[in-house]
Amino acid sequence: MQQKKVTIAPAKGKLGVVIPGMGAITTTFIAGLESILRGYCAPIGSITQMGHIRLGRRDTGSNPLIKDFLPLANIKDLVIGGWDIFPENMYDAAMNAKVLRKDQLDPVKDKLESITPMKAVFDNRYVKNISGPNVKTEKTLWDKSQALKDDILRFKQENGCDRIVMIWIASTEAWHEASEVHQSLEAFEEGLRGNNPSIAPSQVYAYTALSLGIPYINGAPHMSTDCPALMELAERNSVAVAGKDFKTGQTLMKTIIAPGLKARMLGVAGWFSTNILGNRDGEVLDDPESFKSKEVSKLSVLDTIFQADLYPELYKNMFHKVRINYYPPRGDDKEGWDNIDIFGWMNMPMQIKIDFLCRDSILAAPLVLDLILLMDLGQRAGMKGIQEWLSFFFKSPLHAPGLYPEHDLFIQLTKLKNTMRYLMGEELITHLGIDYYNYFD
Ligand SMILES: NC(=O)c1ccc[n+]([C@@H]2O[C@H](COP(=O)([O-])OP(=O)(O)OC[C@H]3O[C@@H](n4cnc5c(N)ncnc54)[C@H](O)[C@@H]3O)[C@@H](O)[C@H]2O)c1
Repeated sequence: MQQKKVTIAPAKGKLGVVIPGMGAITTTFIAGLESILRGYCAPIGSITQMGHIRLGRRDTGSNPLIKDFLPLANIKDLVIGGWDIFPENMYDAAMNAKVLRKDQLDPVKDKLESITPMKAVFDNRYVKNISGPNVKTEKTLWDKSQALKDDILRFKQENGCDRIVMIWIASTEAWHEASEVHQSLEAFEEGLRGNNPSIAPSQVYAYTALSLGIPYINGAPHMSTDCPALMELAERNSVAVAGKDFKTGQTLMKTIIAPGLKARMLGVAGWFSTNILGNRDGEVLDDPESFKSKEVSKLSVLDTIFQADLYPELYKNMFHKVRINYYPPRGDDKEGWDNIDIFGWMNMPMQIKIDFLCRDSILAAPLVLDLILLMDLGQRAGMKGIQEWLSFFFKSPLHAPGLYPEHDLFIQLTKLKNTMRYLMGEELITHLGIDYYNYFD
């Protein structure tokens, strides 16, 4: 049955993107976006730019590009700014990150050099292994939030932006859980004024964005909007939030392979994952407290896919271990190994070995683009609070209280595409179509 189309405000004018953290992923994203706009390459890896969506029955052959189907902002209308603790412009930062080669960066050097980070809100207690000079020095977290607000409003005005989206692509912060100060907006605002040490820098950015009605995306695994105080603010200001932790590399592989094993009712005795990486992200994750945030995010994936409570003979005793090793010679060219001990008919053991020589920032950059465009769309469609339909992009998807997160990439894709159809008043696709009815008289 045809749905009623949701009212979506038009994507007029410029869309500002403000990014805390302008390191490997951000510079790769900006360099790629500019290269795409200049016609040097295609937006490979981006579902909004290259993906098609089937509409209606299979025999109608209607498969438009998603970017033609949805009223998304045009990528030429994106304007990018952000904050970092290092003051280098995006060209120098990209050269330091060593993800892309000089011959890939030089054709867009003018664009990259034109973007320099604003002063960051930073606290070494939350990110231990790095420090830099480009930081705000206001006395309280409240004053720092006001300074961020000024940055955003100035950026918006100078660039003539109609709307803004904020996406956290800064370092992973130390593991911390919601405490007293996170329980209500009132307590949180008091905490900002009183410099409460339980408020992380990422939460100062998130608070500022939500106060201004700006959608907030968390690309890292630590807690930011996922606490009662900031959800209260998102609700009050009708703002969309999404997170956490971009689904790239090893976890992407896990959420592709694990649903397949489960679909065929194959058991898993153990899954050992280890990584070597040598970029700044690896250096930050070398600190046990930042690693804890990442570990929790990476470990949760298999538990919810395998549902050991429903399939105890297959998954109850699965041993799951994740390791990340900082190994500088590798730079951004991470290597992720997985050893999967599976078992089948008559309990016979088998093994799967995966050696993924991936490039993390190359996998993450298109997700950044898709998330910006889809969050802006969601906000224009009046979708407030947690955007579960965007779980497809995250390792540790935010979810409504009382529900478990959906990790299976293929269920996530169905949900993503059906939400797109729903927004545009198209029939949802359940794969229970004409063939099924033909079986019966
Ligand atoms: N690359 C991936 O595939 C991937 C996947 C999932 C999540 N992530 C997460 O994305 C984030 C970015 O990854 P990256 O490889 O670009 O790391 P990176 O270290 O190259 O860049 C992060 C930048 O954030 C800056 N920073 C740290 N704290 C800040 C603050 N409070 N305000 C502003 N800037 C700050 C750092 O100076 C650094 O330049 C990390 O948290 C990482 O764990 C990456």
